[in-house]
Amino acid sequence: MALRERNRKFVVLANWKMYKTISEGMDYIRTLKENNWIHENAVEIILCIPFTILSAAVREALKGKIEIGAQNVYDHDWGPFTGEISAPMLSEIGCRYCMIGHSWRRQQTHENDFYVNRKVKLLNKYGIIPIICIGESIEEREKGQTLEKLKEQIEICFDGLSHEQMMRAIVLYEPIWAIGTGKVATLEQAEQAHHFIRKKIEQCFSEKVAERTRIVYGGSVKWHNVSEMLDSKNIDGVGVGSDSLDVNNFVKTAAACIKFIKSI
Ligand code: PGA
Repeated sequence: MALRERNRKFVVLANWKMYKTISEGMDYIRTLKENNWIHENAVEIILCIPFTILSAAVREALKGKIEIGAQNVYDHDWGPFTGEISAPMLSEIGCRYCMIGHSWRRQQTHENDFYVNRKVKLLNKYGIIPIICIGESIEEREKGQTLEKLKEQIEICFDGLSHEQMMRAIVLYEPIWAIGTGKVATLEQAEQAHHFIRKKIEQCFSEKVAERTRIVYGGSVKWHNVSEMLDSKNIDGVGVGSDSLDVNNFVKTAAACIKFIKSI
């Protein structure tokens, strides 16, 4: 397999959801930094964390080794949108990434693909790299509509992006039925979806763009099952939710990924 020839840095992403105070977050990042492998540059660690922790985390993290991302952004630059946070605000504090379209937000706050697309464009305008979540529900999978759903999400969410913008973006494939359920997708299911996503990106952009874009799997990834998800041509990283809340578990997950990367 041509894994070694790949031009895509492997991602180990933590989604803290609505957990952790600033001091807990700082302790977490300090513990991560105590690991020597952080300096080896083998993988890119991305922590997607609550808004309140972002500023402090950007200062505490190690640029290029531990990167910081938000979990959401509003779809306007400025305005009377009480309680919202905009892309220029995230950019000002040095936030490098921002996750958008997480299935929780899609379900609870009715964010659709067009809304996600507006956010993708705004993030790009302010130099923040979007991490775009896509994935099918259990009903869609059972009806055999998984690939149709992914096709639609890709066509709408990534519409209007330049080739450079698409190559920088991260696609986070998270089947909804696998999020927080303990039901991790099989390697075969994940690889099929990732392969399809890459082919679709090739169709919408170009072969070069598809070859460079990182496609990451998320949904019930844990330190003890992560090895099952690694040996695949089209999986460029893992997104870890609940299991990333314990820094020791996240360290074990990252260590497993690094061991794998070094072995190929
Ligand atoms: P999970 O969450 O790892 O707890 O399934 C993944 C996510 O919400 O990104």
